[in-house]
Formats: sequence, structure tokens, C-alpha cells
Amino acid sequence: MNDPLPTSELFKQFVVPTYGRFNLQFSRGEGVWLWDEQGKRYLDFGAGIAVTSLGHCHPRVNARMAKQLGSLVHTSNLYYTRPQGELAKRLVEIVGHPGKIFFCNSGAEANEALYKLARKFGNETLGFSQNSSSGEDASENHPPRRTIITMHGSFHGRTLGGIAATGQDKVKKGFDPLPEGFRHSTFNDIPELQAITSDPSAVAILVEPVQGERGIYAATPEFLQKARSICDERSMLLMFDEVQCGLGRTGDWNGWDTVAPGVTPDAVSWAKGIAGGFPLGAVWISDRPIRLRTGDTIPLCDLLGPGSHGTTFGGTPLICEGALEVLSVIEDENLLQNAKTLGKHALESIRALKSPWIQTVRGVGLMIGIELVENFSKLHSASEPKAPSVYIVEKLHEAGLMTVPSGTHTIRWLPALNVDKTAIDEATSILSHVLNSLGKIAD
Ligand SMILES: Cc1ncc(COP(=O)(O)O)c(C=O)c1O
Repeated sequence: MNDPLPTSELFKQFVVPTYGRFNLQFSRGEGVWLWDEQGKRYLDFGAGIAVTSLGHCHPRVNARMAKQLGSLVHTSNLYYTRPQGELAKRLVEIVGHPGKIFFCNSGAEANEALYKLARKFGNETLGFSQNSSSGEDASENHPPRRTIITMHGSFHGRTLGGIAATGQDKVKKGFDPLPEGFRHSTFNDIPELQAITSDPSAVAILVEPVQGERGIYAATPEFLQKARSICDERSMLLMFDEVQCGLGRTGDWNGWDTVAPGVTPDAVSWAKGIAGGFPLGAVWISDRPIRLRTGDTIPLCDLLGPGSHGTTFGGTPLICEGALEVLSVIEDENLLQNAKTLGKHALESIRALKSPWIQTVRGVGLMIGIELVENFSKLHSASEPKAPSVYIVEKLHEAGLMTVPSGTHTIRWLPALNVDKTAIDEATSILSHVLNSLGKIAD
């Protein structure tokens, strides 16, 4: 029997209040639709913040996981299970360059694996020397390189390492001392990246090819190309956080292939949409040869050897079967193309609204950021003291559309990759209705 307390009251009394939650209690989902406890239906263009990549309760994923549920759910990473190996192979194929995969449970955890990879690389390989023809500093005394360069405005997760890496002060407040070894550079600013990486302690660059939490900002091809050449010249690692933009969301398997074709990173992190709603994180590490201080040469993907890293749940047979099916559906149903075509259609449709309340619309595939005018609160006093993005997201909820706020002024559309044109048109119409209901902006 259900507890007589309403859901929100259960949360109030028993759940740590780390989230400022919207007053919505969901009980069911199917495809691009969600239903709340009162039976009201919503078009879901948040997809659990880019997670339910095939919508809710996809029949193929459910059937495959149900089958696995009846045979084997979990053993331990002390042993081999076939689905983990198969998924690793598929992910390496998706990257298109030889390497290996580490499995974990979330985006923050995938990024932790990247920080540890960079630390071990910095501690166990030689540094860069401008005087040496090979680029390596032959001196055994070269101090370990420990600084990971990340971008202002980035988001990398909520662990201590994640908030140290994240280029936003608001996530760090109250959590000193943070782990050392991170410096932030301005996204898409090549001269600043060149200057900051000239620090001899710099060992890696970590960048989101499309910054999601900041409000959908794509890296320029020149920026990622420069980051690649700096890493080559200085024997550093180029690492991409594809937790939000990876595995189809931009219209390609790899977000970097959409924004900077031809640039290959040394390591990548994924999570969110990888298993269509089930918790899974993963990291790809290149087989690029690296020379250790000991003089041995090994592939980078073997640097995290036995005992150096791990997690109990990473890559269970149940979740890996789910992820394999998600990736198969994306391929079988041509959903990369769908993300490209419908992303473009959504972008054009929102721009065509020519709403005076919209400052700009940015988009890469099915990652769309709708930025409201800067002086929204002044022009629309009813919204105060709420952030304009939250005010509009709540109005959209009332009208039956789920979207995600980003900062104070941006609303994200991150629908499932199998969304159709009818759903995009309906979402655009709801957005138009809500913006029109705000009235005209006085001259
Ligand atoms: C780019 C990026 N990296 C990392 C994370 C953290 O992922 P998780 O919440 O699964 O720890 C997020 C979450 O929003 C993200 O967008």
C-alpha cells in the first residue's frame, strides 16, 4: 500500500534537499510523453536532461533488458561477462580509432577516470622540453605534470574532482579545500589556451565539444584543432567530455565529429544517453603509444592497470545489454540523421517565431538553447524574483511542455533522438503560445 503522505511531502521529510525541484510528480512515461500523478500529459523535451535518448520505455530496450534480467544482472568486475566486452567493442567502433573502454555509473565518475588517467600520465611520463628534438624532456628530474586545463563555463559533475574541474564558481561554493591541479581557460579563445598550456605543469586539456549546462555553446573547429596540435606538440592529453553531447545528440555518434571533423581526442567520457535512462558511464582511451619514465613504451589505454581504478557496478551485464540495444536502435532507425534533420527544423521553427522575448537560438543537432532577452525581468516584472529561464520553464510546464533551464536566461530542448516532426511542431506551438502570452515588449 502507498504511503498516505503526498510525494512532495515524502521528499520534504526524507530526501536531502540538494535539488530545487519543480512541483511536478511523474508516474509514467511512453515515447516522448510523460504523465504526472494527476494524469496530466506532458511532451518531454528535457528527456531527463539528455538521458532518455529513445524516449520512455522503448519496447526493444525493455525486451532485451527483461531477457537479461532473467539470466544475469551482476557479478563483479573481478570476472568476465560477455555484454561488457561486446559494448566496449561497439564503443571503440563508434570512436573509430583503436583504444579501450572503462565502465562506471555516471558522468562525474567517467570524468574522474579521465582526471586519474591524466594524473598518472603526468606522473609517469616525461614532460615537454623546447630544447629536445623529440619534444620530451630527457631529464629524469623533470617535475611531474599535474595541471588539467578545463574551460570557463564548463560542467563536469558534482564530485570534488568534478567541481574542481568545472569552470563555474557556483558549484564550488562551500566545498573548500578543492583538489588541486585544475586551471580554467576561456572557451574558444586560442591565444589564452596557448598561454595557459605553456605552463610546464600542464598535462591535459579537458573540453566539452558542445557546452551543455552553460546553455549550448559549440566549440569552434579551429579551437579543437589548436587544442589537438598543442597536445601533440607538448605531449599532453586531449580529453573530451561527451557526457551530454555524445552518442548521437549532435547528429553524429561523436559530438566532436559534428563540430570539428578530423580531430581525434586521446580520451573521452560518456554517460547520460548511453543506456537510454539506466545509469552507465564510460570512458574511451586511445591506444596511442606513450613512453614512461622507466623507458618502457605502452599504449595509453593500458596506463590504468590492475588495481589503479575501479567501481563495483560499472558495466553490469544488465546495463550493458540495455546500452547495446540503445546503440542498435539509433543505428537501425537512422536516428543520427533524425537528430540532424529535426534539430535543424526545430532551430528554424523557433527562429521563425521572431519572438521579441528571445535574444538568440543556438543549436547543434538535438541540443538547442533558447536564450531570452537580457533585460527580461525588467520588461516582465511578473517573473521576479525568479530567474527568467525558470519562469518560462514553469509556464511551459503549465502548458504541457517539459524543457530544462540553463543558467538564468536559457531554456534547453534536448528531446529523445527518435522525436518526430509532429512533436517538434507541437513543442514550437506551445513555446509560441507561452511567449505570446507574455505580451508585447513596449518600445
Ligand atoms: C558535460 C557534462 N559532464 C558531466 C556531467 C555529470 O554527469 P552526471 O550527472 O551523470 O554525474 C554532466 C551532467 O550534466 C554534463 O553535462
